[in-house]
Amino acid sequence: MTSAFTPRILSGAQPTGALHIGNYLGAVKNYAILQKEFPESLYFIADCHAVTVGQDPEALRKSVRLTAAMFVAAGVDPEKSAIFNQSRCDAHVKLAWVFNCVARTGWLNRMTQFKEKAGKNREQASVGLYTYPVLMAADILCYKATHVPVGEDQKQHLELARDIAVRFNLEHAKSDFFPLPEPVTPKETARVMSLRDGNAKMSKSDPSDNARINLNDEDDVIAQKIKKAKTDGGLPPATLEDLESRAEIHNLYKIYAALTEKPVETVIDGFADKNFSAFKTALTEILVETVRPFRAEMGKVLTDTQYIDDILTRGAEKARAIADPIVSDVYEIFGFLR
Ligand code: AQP
Repeated sequence: MTSAFTPRILSGAQPTGALHIGNYLGAVKNYAILQKEFPESLYFIADCHAVTVGQDPEALRKSVRLTAAMFVAAGVDPEKSAIFNQSRCDAHVKLAWVFNCVARTGWLNRMTQFKEKAGKNREQASVGLYTYPVLMAADILCYKATHVPVGEDQKQHLELARDIAVRFNLEHAKSDFFPLPEPVTPKETARVMSLRDGNAKMSKSDPSDNARINLNDEDDVIAQKIKKAKTDGGLPPATLEDLESRAEIHNLYKIYAALTEKPVETVIDGFADKNFSAFKTALTEILVETVRPFRAEMGKVLTDTQYIDDILTRGAEKARAIADPIVSDVYEIFGFLR
């Protein structure tokens, strides 16, 4: 069914702090690769999603610019792809309202991310946090995007977007109006884990900064975090089986393999007869090398805000030009007088 649609990439990240190596390896690294393969790609900074948990307005503005700078540092070319903040393109929230009326509460009640983020305090969570996946469906479908680079944590939300598209097509449009978007997820790093707990996802909102490598960490901070990264005191693994039974080490090896673009088996062979500190030194080196261009790009933004604001303005214009006619058609289908 997707073949009838213009192949189009759409993805986003929340400006809830600096992106980390999990965001990069799970999704953002693919942005630059996919923009070369697809005729159209749109990358947005999800400021509407960010406010579902409350944000300081000044910090939010700063974080939107820094996230945009991180996209540029990751290789997204603003001349080729649209980089913009979500709130600048009204189509997202306009379509989200329609989708609130298409999605069923039973579907939303199954979303695990809401349960995790709301925790025990569910009654006090914002309504926006609950309906977050509906806005995410609108983010994707307001561009009729066909492919969505996301980490594994967002795959359930993408499934919901497909369910909404199917229902809208069947019951409202009575045609294949929306494509069924496909996730684009890396095999090994779809879920990068915390440096402190191999069973928890690396996350911006983890209270411990030592749990993640941020894309703006200084070299010595990276070295310290890797030094402190949890391991089990054993020798470096000699086989894949051994590696896979050791959560924290498996995570570190997968990060190293992804950054050096080597199969994990090669990494095992390379360190099997060394001590663990040799591996940590090599991991630190590749992380430092990876993060350096991000810091440089961010430094540029901090001294020249206009540079990034121009990128965001142009990106939003491109985004609106695609999304506005699509949402206009949806309103027509729904029977809204125009
Ligand atoms: N640990 C991860 N491993 C692989 N991919 C990940 N992503 C997030 N964490 C990992 C992917 O990164 C993209 C941007 O994520 P986001 O900023 O929209 O928010 P998130 O998924 O909620 O990520 P965080 O870091 O955990 O943020 P907070 O703590 O603010 O909620 C997405 O494609 C995501 O899948």
